[in-house]
Amino acid sequence: MHSFDIATLAVRAGYDQTQEQENSEAIFPTSSFRYKSAAQAAARFNGEEKGNVYSRFTNPTVRAFENRLALMEGGEACVGTASGMSAILSTFMALCESGDHVVCSQSVFGTTKVLFNKYLSKFGLEVTFVSQTDVAEWGDAIQPNTKAFFLETPSNPLTEVADLSTISALAKANNCLLIVDNCFCTPILQRPLEQGADIIIHSATKFLDGQGRGIGGAVVGSNELVDEHVRGFMRTAGPSMSPFNAWIF
Ligand SMILES: Cc1ncc(COP(=O)(O)O)c(C=O)c1O
Repeated sequence: MHSFDIATLAVRAGYDQTQEQENSEAIFPTSSFRYKSAAQAAARFNGEEKGNVYSRFTNPTVRAFENRLALMEGGEACVGTASGMSAILSTFMALCESGDHVVCSQSVFGTTKVLFNKYLSKFGLEVTFVSQTDVAEWGDAIQPNTKAFFLETPSNPLTEVADLSTISALAKANNCLLIVDNCFCTPILQRPLEQGADIIIHSATKFLDGQGRGIGGAVVGSNELVDEHVRGFMRTAGPSMSPFNAWIF
Protein backbone atom coordinates (compact mmCIF):
# COMPACT_ATOMS: atom_id res chain seq x y z
CA MET A 1 0.00 0.00 0.00
CA HIS A 2 1.20 3.52 -0.78
CA SER A 3 2.17 5.40 2.35
CA PHE A 4 1.70 9.14 2.25
CA ASP A 5 3.40 11.79 4.35
CA ILE A 6 1.29 13.05 7.26
CA ALA A 7 1.04 16.50 5.65
CA THR A 8 -0.65 14.87 2.64
CA LEU A 9 -2.93 12.83 4.90
CA ALA A 10 -3.91 16.05 6.70
CA VAL A 11 -5.38 17.56 3.52
CA ARG A 12 -6.45 14.51 1.50
CA ALA A 13 -6.93 11.33 3.51
CA GLY A 14 -10.21 9.58 4.13
CA TYR A 15 -12.47 11.57 1.83
CA ASP A 16 -14.34 10.09 -1.15
CA GLN A 17 -14.88 12.73 -3.80
CA THR A 18 -18.49 12.90 -5.02
CA GLN A 19 -19.45 12.64 -8.71
CA GLU A 20 -18.96 16.44 -8.89
CA GLN A 21 -15.16 15.96 -8.58
CA GLU A 22 -14.87 18.80 -6.07
CA ASN A 23 -11.41 19.80 -4.88
CA SER A 24 -12.48 20.86 -1.35
CA GLU A 25 -14.61 18.55 0.82
CA ALA A 26 -18.38 18.76 0.38
CA ILE A 27 -20.52 19.28 3.47
CA PHE A 28 -23.59 17.12 4.16
CA PRO A 29 -25.72 19.07 6.66
CA THR A 30 -28.46 16.45 6.80
CA SER A 31 -30.10 14.77 9.78
CA SER A 32 -31.24 11.74 7.80
CA PHE A 33 -31.09 10.14 4.32
CA ARG A 34 -33.39 9.24 1.42
CA TYR A 35 -33.67 5.70 0.06
CA LYS A 36 -34.49 4.24 -3.33
CA SER A 37 -37.34 2.19 -1.88
CA ALA A 38 -39.05 1.26 1.37
CA ALA A 39 -37.27 -2.10 1.10
CA GLN A 40 -33.88 -0.36 1.01
CA ALA A 41 -34.83 1.81 3.99
CA ALA A 42 -35.84 -1.32 5.91
CA ALA A 43 -32.55 -3.04 5.01
CA ARG A 44 -30.55 -0.01 6.19
CA PHE A 45 -32.47 0.31 9.43
CA ASN A 46 -32.13 -3.35 10.35
CA GLY A 47 -28.42 -3.40 9.40
CA GLU A 48 -28.70 -5.85 6.45
CA GLU A 49 -27.38 -3.18 4.09
CA LYS A 50 -24.42 -0.95 4.99
CA GLY A 51 -24.89 2.80 4.63
CA ASN A 52 -26.15 5.94 6.28
CA VAL A 53 -29.28 5.81 8.39
CA TYR A 54 -29.31 8.85 10.62
CA SER A 55 -26.65 11.46 11.39
CA ARG A 56 -26.52 10.64 15.10
CA PHE A 57 -24.97 7.34 13.90
CA THR A 58 -23.00 8.31 10.79
CA ASN A 59 -22.77 11.31 8.45
CA PRO A 60 -20.55 11.61 5.35
CA THR A 61 -18.84 14.83 6.51
CA VAL A 62 -18.23 13.47 10.00
CA ARG A 63 -16.98 10.23 8.42
CA ALA A 64 -14.41 12.17 6.37
CA PHE A 65 -13.12 13.79 9.60
CA GLU A 66 -13.07 10.38 11.33
CA ASN A 67 -11.30 8.58 8.47
CA ARG A 68 -8.71 11.30 8.15
CA LEU A 69 -7.90 11.46 11.86
CA ALA A 70 -7.75 7.65 12.11
CA LEU A 71 -5.23 7.55 9.25
CA MET A 72 -3.18 10.40 10.75
CA GLU A 73 -3.08 8.71 14.18
CA GLY A 74 -2.43 5.25 12.70
CA GLY A 75 -5.65 3.83 14.19
CA GLU A 76 -8.18 1.49 12.60
CA ALA A 77 -11.21 3.52 13.63
CA CYS A 78 -12.29 6.94 14.88
CA VAL A 79 -15.53 8.29 16.31
CA GLY A 80 -16.18 12.04 16.17
CA THR A 81 -17.96 13.52 19.19
CA ALA A 82 -19.63 16.78 20.14
CA SER A 83 -16.73 17.87 22.40
CA GLY A 84 -13.53 16.61 23.95
CA MET A 85 -15.37 15.97 27.22
CA SER A 86 -17.96 13.82 25.47
CA ALA A 87 -15.11 11.87 23.85
CA ILE A 88 -13.80 11.08 27.35
CA LEU A 89 -17.29 10.35 28.73
CA SER A 90 -18.17 8.08 25.77
CA THR A 91 -14.91 6.13 26.12
CA PHE A 92 -15.39 5.38 29.82
CA MET A 93 -19.12 4.70 29.53
CA ALA A 94 -18.47 2.28 26.67
CA LEU A 95 -15.42 0.45 28.01
CA CYS A 96 -15.85 0.40 31.80
CA GLU A 97 -18.45 -0.93 34.16
CA SER A 98 -19.42 -0.46 37.77
CA GLY A 99 -16.65 -1.76 40.05
CA ASP A 100 -13.86 -1.05 37.57
CA HIS A 101 -10.89 1.07 38.63
CA VAL A 102 -8.94 3.66 36.64
CA VAL A 103 -5.45 5.03 37.32
CA CYS A 104 -5.39 8.63 36.11
CA SER A 105 -2.68 11.28 35.97
CA GLN A 106 -3.31 14.01 38.54
CA SER A 107 -2.28 16.56 35.89
CA VAL A 108 -5.22 16.03 33.52
CA PHE A 109 -7.51 18.90 32.48
CA GLY A 110 -9.58 19.94 35.54
CA THR A 111 -12.96 19.13 34.00
CA THR A 112 -11.78 15.55 33.34
CA LYS A 113 -11.18 15.21 37.09
CA VAL A 114 -14.68 16.56 37.78
CA LEU A 115 -16.08 14.01 35.32
CA PHE A 116 -14.41 11.17 37.25
CA ASN A 117 -15.01 12.48 40.77
CA LYS A 118 -18.53 13.87 40.48
CA TYR A 119 -20.21 11.87 37.70
CA LEU A 120 -18.52 8.59 36.71
CA SER A 121 -18.08 7.80 40.42
CA LYS A 122 -21.92 7.78 40.72
CA PHE A 123 -21.92 4.72 38.46
CA GLY A 124 -19.31 2.87 40.52
CA LEU A 125 -16.13 3.74 38.60
CA GLU A 126 -13.23 4.16 41.05
CA VAL A 127 -10.29 6.44 40.24
CA THR A 128 -6.82 6.85 41.76
CA PHE A 129 -4.89 9.98 40.76
CA VAL A 130 -1.10 9.63 40.46
CA SER A 131 1.86 11.75 39.44
CA GLN A 132 2.16 12.14 35.67
CA THR A 133 5.93 11.84 35.83
CA ASP A 134 6.57 9.26 38.60
CA VAL A 135 6.04 5.88 36.89
CA ALA A 136 6.43 4.04 40.22
CA GLU A 137 3.19 5.66 41.41
CA TRP A 138 1.34 4.15 38.42
CA GLY A 139 2.59 0.68 39.31
CA ASP A 140 1.71 1.11 43.01
CA ALA A 141 -1.84 2.24 42.17
CA ILE A 142 -2.78 -0.88 40.17
CA GLN A 143 -5.52 -3.00 41.76
CA PRO A 144 -7.02 -6.33 40.64
CA ASN A 145 -9.97 -4.39 39.15
CA THR A 146 -7.87 -1.76 37.30
CA LYS A 147 -9.26 -1.53 33.78
CA ALA A 148 -7.52 1.50 32.32
CA PHE A 149 -4.80 4.14 32.64
CA PHE A 150 -5.65 7.67 31.56
CA LEU A 151 -3.34 10.61 30.93
CA GLU A 152 -2.81 13.57 28.64
CA THR A 153 0.65 14.47 27.44
CA PRO A 154 1.71 17.22 27.54
CA SER A 155 -0.87 17.98 30.21
CA ASN A 156 -3.13 21.03 30.36
CA PRO A 157 -2.11 23.48 31.80
CA LEU A 158 1.23 22.39 33.34
CA THR A 159 2.62 20.76 30.15
CA GLU A 160 4.00 17.77 32.07
CA VAL A 161 5.25 15.09 29.70
CA ALA A 162 4.53 11.40 30.38
CA ASP A 163 6.92 8.55 29.62
CA LEU A 164 4.47 6.91 27.22
CA SER A 165 6.42 3.79 26.31
CA THR A 166 7.17 2.88 29.97
CA ILE A 167 3.59 3.54 31.09
CA SER A 168 2.19 1.59 28.13
CA ALA A 169 4.45 -1.40 28.94
CA LEU A 170 3.16 -1.28 32.54
CA ALA A 171 -0.43 -1.13 31.31
CA LYS A 172 0.08 -4.12 28.98
CA ALA A 173 1.80 -6.16 31.69
CA ASN A 174 -1.24 -5.61 33.92
CA ASN A 175 -3.89 -6.14 31.25
CA CYS A 176 -5.04 -2.50 31.37
CA LEU A 177 -5.98 -0.20 28.52
CA LEU A 178 -3.85 2.91 28.06
CA ILE A 179 -6.00 5.90 27.05
CA VAL A 180 -4.10 9.03 26.02
CA ASP A 181 -5.49 12.52 25.45
CA ASN A 182 -3.36 13.74 22.51
CA CYS A 183 -5.05 17.12 22.24
CA PHE A 184 -1.97 19.30 22.74
CA CYS A 185 0.35 17.60 20.23
CA THR A 186 -2.05 16.30 17.55
CA PRO A 187 -0.77 13.43 15.37
CA ILE A 188 1.54 15.89 13.62
CA LEU A 189 3.85 15.87 16.67
CA GLN A 190 2.98 12.66 18.55
CA ARG A 191 1.25 9.36 17.68
CA PRO A 192 0.60 7.56 20.98
CA LEU A 193 -0.72 4.36 19.32
CA GLU A 194 2.81 3.83 17.97
CA GLN A 195 4.06 3.98 21.57
CA GLY A 196 1.63 1.36 22.81
CA ALA A 197 -1.52 3.33 23.69
CA ASP A 198 -4.84 1.60 23.00
CA ILE A 199 -7.04 4.67 22.62
CA ILE A 200 -6.46 8.32 21.76
CA ILE A 201 -8.78 11.11 22.81
CA HIS A 202 -8.92 14.54 21.22
CA SER A 203 -10.52 17.79 22.08
CA ALA A 204 -10.73 18.84 18.41
CA THR A 205 -11.64 22.23 19.82
CA LYS A 206 -7.95 22.92 20.39
CA PHE A 207 -5.17 22.26 17.88
CA LEU A 208 -7.02 19.98 15.44
CA ASP A 209 -9.06 23.06 14.63
CA GLY A 210 -6.30 25.47 15.51
CA GLN A 211 -8.42 28.56 14.94
CA GLY A 212 -10.94 28.53 17.78
CA ARG A 213 -14.04 28.08 15.60
CA GLY A 214 -15.86 25.07 17.02
CA ILE A 215 -16.25 22.51 19.81
CA GLY A 216 -15.64 18.86 19.00
CA GLY A 217 -13.81 15.73 20.00
CA ALA A 218 -12.71 12.31 18.81
CA VAL A 219 -11.80 8.82 19.98
CA VAL A 220 -9.29 6.79 17.91
CA GLY A 221 -8.21 3.15 18.28
CA SER A 222 -9.02 -0.38 17.14
CA ASN A 223 -12.19 -1.38 15.31
CA GLU A 224 -13.26 -3.44 18.28
CA LEU A 225 -12.78 -0.83 21.01
CA VAL A 226 -13.76 2.27 19.06
CA ASP A 227 -16.10 1.27 16.25
CA GLU A 228 -18.03 -1.38 18.14
CA HIS A 229 -18.00 -0.10 21.70
CA VAL A 230 -17.49 3.69 21.68
CA ARG A 231 -19.59 4.25 18.55
CA GLY A 232 -22.29 2.07 20.08
CA PHE A 233 -22.47 4.35 23.13
CA MET A 234 -22.23 7.50 21.02
CA ARG A 235 -25.07 6.55 18.67
CA THR A 236 -27.25 5.55 21.63
CA ALA A 237 -26.55 8.43 23.99
CA GLY A 238 -26.14 11.01 21.22
CA PRO A 239 -23.05 13.22 21.80
CA SER A 240 -22.38 13.18 18.04
CA MET A 241 -20.20 15.64 16.11
CA SER A 242 -22.16 18.02 13.87
CA PRO A 243 -21.42 17.89 10.12
CA PHE A 244 -20.66 21.61 10.16
CA ASN A 245 -18.01 21.23 12.87
CA ALA A 246 -16.56 18.16 11.11
CA TRP A 247 -16.26 20.19 7.92
CA ILE A 248 -14.50 23.03 9.78
CA PHE A 249 -12.06 20.62 11.48
C1 LIG B 1 -6.37 18.27 27.33
C2 LIG B 1 -7.83 18.53 27.20
N1 LIG B 1 -8.68 17.49 27.09
C3 LIG B 1 -10.01 17.68 26.97
C4 LIG B 1 -10.55 18.94 26.98
C5 LIG B 1 -12.04 19.09 26.86
O1 LIG B 1 -12.37 19.40 25.54
P1 LIG B 1 -13.68 20.22 25.12
O2 LIG B 1 -13.56 21.59 25.68
O3 LIG B 1 -13.63 20.16 23.61
O4 LIG B 1 -14.85 19.47 25.67
C6 LIG B 1 -9.73 20.06 27.06
C7 LIG B 1 -10.30 21.42 27.04
O5 LIG B 1 -9.65 22.39 27.38
C8 LIG B 1 -8.32 19.85 27.19
O6 LIG B 1 -7.47 20.87 27.27
